[in-house]
Amino acid sequence: MAEVTQKLKGKVAIVTGGASGIGEATARLFAQHGARAVVIADIQDGKGRAVAVSIPSQICSYVQCDVSDENQVKAMVDWTVQKYGQLDIMFSNAGVVGPLAHPPLR
Ligand SMILES: NC(=O)c1ccc[n+]([C@@H]2O[C@H](COP(=O)([O-])OP(=O)(O)OC[C@H]3O[C@@H](n4cnc5c(N)ncnc54)[C@H](O)[C@@H]3O)[C@@H](O)[C@H]2O)c1
Repeated sequence: MAEVTQKLKGKVAIVTGGASGIGEATARLFAQHGARAVVIADIQDGKGRAVAVSIPSQICSYVQCDVSDENQVKAMVDWTVQKYGQLDIMFSNAGVVGPLAHPPLR
């Protein structure tokens, strides 16, 4: 296993799409590397809460947030800063894997 550093010690991070896949793995890594707080922002409440409780609870929170809605994103960022006093890392990972909704540019 790779050496675990504490290079994120004291940092506060948001991971959008943190309820599964790459975002979930990233949230766990951020906690392992010493982040003070990791906020999982997602639309899958059940999965998001389950991930949050499986990471030490004083570190991780789940917030329901649809990143396609700017007002929800603003509210989630404001909530994070109010709760933890700062925001150092924003991993804008949320999305869907699959064919593009629009044809590629020519
Ligand atoms: N897995 C791959 O091979 C791959 C390749 C290229 C790019 N990506 C990109 O990486 C990101 C993560 O991929 P993944 O494989 O972990 O996908 P995943 O489907 O496992 O996870 C995506 C997460 O984003 C959340 N999500 C979807 N729409 C959302 C929204 N509107 N608001 C908030 N959360 C939302 C989902 O609920 C889910 O938890 C995606 O943006 C994907 O397009 C993945």
